[in-house]
Amino acid sequence: MKSSYDWPAAAEPPALELGEIHLWRVKVPDEGNVPTDWLGFLTAEERDRVARKRIPVDARRTLTSRACLRLLLGMYVGRSPEQIALEATPEGKPILRGQGEPDRIEFNVSHSAEWVILGFSRGPALGLDVECHRELEFDDLVTGFFSPIERKAWASLPLTNRCEAFFAAWTRKEAYLKALGVGLAKSLDSFSVSLGAGSSGKLVWCADHPRAPQTWHFVSIDPAPGYAGALALDYSSKTLRTFSFHAPGG
Ligand SMILES: CC(C)(COP(=O)(O)OP(=O)(O)OC[C@H]1O[C@@H](n2cnc3c(N)ncnc32)[C@H](O)[C@@H]1OP(=O)(O)O)[C@@H](O)C(=O)NCCC(=O)NCCS
Repeated sequence: MKSSYDWPAAAEPPALELGEIHLWRVKVPDEGNVPTDWLGFLTAEERDRVARKRIPVDARRTLTSRACLRLLLGMYVGRSPEQIALEATPEGKPILRGQGEPDRIEFNVSHSAEWVILGFSRGPALGLDVECHRELEFDDLVTGFFSPIERKAWASLPLTNRCEAFFAAWTRKEAYLKALGVGLAKSLDSFSVSLGAGSSGKLVWCADHPRAPQTWHFVSIDPAPGYAGALALDYSSKTLRTFSFHAPGG
């Protein structure tokens, strides 16, 4: 599968075929450019979540994420954004209520700084994570959260490759947890991912699922310069299609 900066603009999705994955990126609108109908798509609880964000860009990112999830899911399943019945698993993963086969749709969302990324497939589950590159205490985070295999790989990396390798590994780890739907209930050092910042990555080891590395793998996503992203899958997808969402009214 490919990964590139080529995310052509689209206002609605093409048909989502079995075996395809559609990834959408949405730029968080500047103040004054947020479509006026977005807030109205949300439930009272979701609107409260937006209102509780103290920093304006955080509120706009939360609103963008949920409004665009509702808009896109609505287009995939033929409902209006307000009719999309979302619920969360006990671990917090949003799912679409009342889905039956064969039209079942899987999705996952991630956001960082100015971008929201949304992924859709006809199943099985997928996991997404995106992070804006920024200065962090990489060594401390690797020591605190990475597995022994990852720590060894990290120590052998040239200093100049470390920022890119950190975000490649970190987004793979988060994407794996998000595909499983377990969030941080699963310890980050109980599995290992490859650290190389190439177009794909591997699950190298998983303590409680020794066979998981046979199927789980990662596709690197480049939503925009200065960002790293990963898509976690436990099956081979023939086609990954990427789009920039131009929401109606946006
Ligand atoms: C919630 C979590 C699943 C991802 O958090 P995150 O990386 O901070 O945030 P992302 O933007 O990638 O993902 C948030 C989205 O994941 C989805 N999500 C929430 N819980 C989820 C779960 N258990 N499984 C899958 N997806 C989940 C939601 O759609 C959420 O978006 P929304 O709130 O707009 O609906 C969890 O792994 C977490 O809390 N991570 C924190 C990681 C951390 O401490 N990082 C420090 C980096 S140095």
